[in-house]
Amino acid sequence: MSKKIFLATDHGAFEQKEAVKKFLIEEGYEVVDLGTHSIDSCHYPEYAVSLAKAVQKEGKGILLCGSGIGVCMVANKFKGIRAALCHNVDLARLSREHNNANVICFGGRISTSEEVLAMTKVWLATEFEGGRHQTRIDMFTDLGEN
Ligand code: RB5
Repeated sequence: MSKKIFLATDHGAFEQKEAVKKFLIEEGYEVVDLGTHSIDSCHYPEYAVSLAKAVQKEGKGILLCGSGIGVCMVANKFKGIRAALCHNVDLARLSREHNNANVICFGGRISTSEEVLAMTKVWLATEFEGGRHQTRIDMFTDLGEN
């Protein structure tokens, strides 16, 4: 299994992104930090686009912004990206078991660093169940121009 994880955020979750980065490095993941690298105001779509393009090629992604909503909307426009906005560990687990989420999204104005870390741990430890869930994913993978 790939240990490569891409991280990206806008200014709205810089603190949480740094906390996740530290944890992942300590756990031995190959972390690629796509920014942002400060709390200066920036545009979340730029970061979400970079991360989605990277995850289309390999690995998984952790994507953040103030609410988590904007980056999730952007990422899900890319074919093969299944981004899930999560607010608790049950959603993080289900996003893997049922939806095979390859990107997890968090809101820095919604979830604390501790909560983000707890969700990240569960998300990374949970396998996709396949079977009927794969059938359902296949039903929406090739919709429209995405
Ligand atoms: C930035 O102020 C904020 O709009 C952004 O982080 C995010 O919440 C958008 O969905």
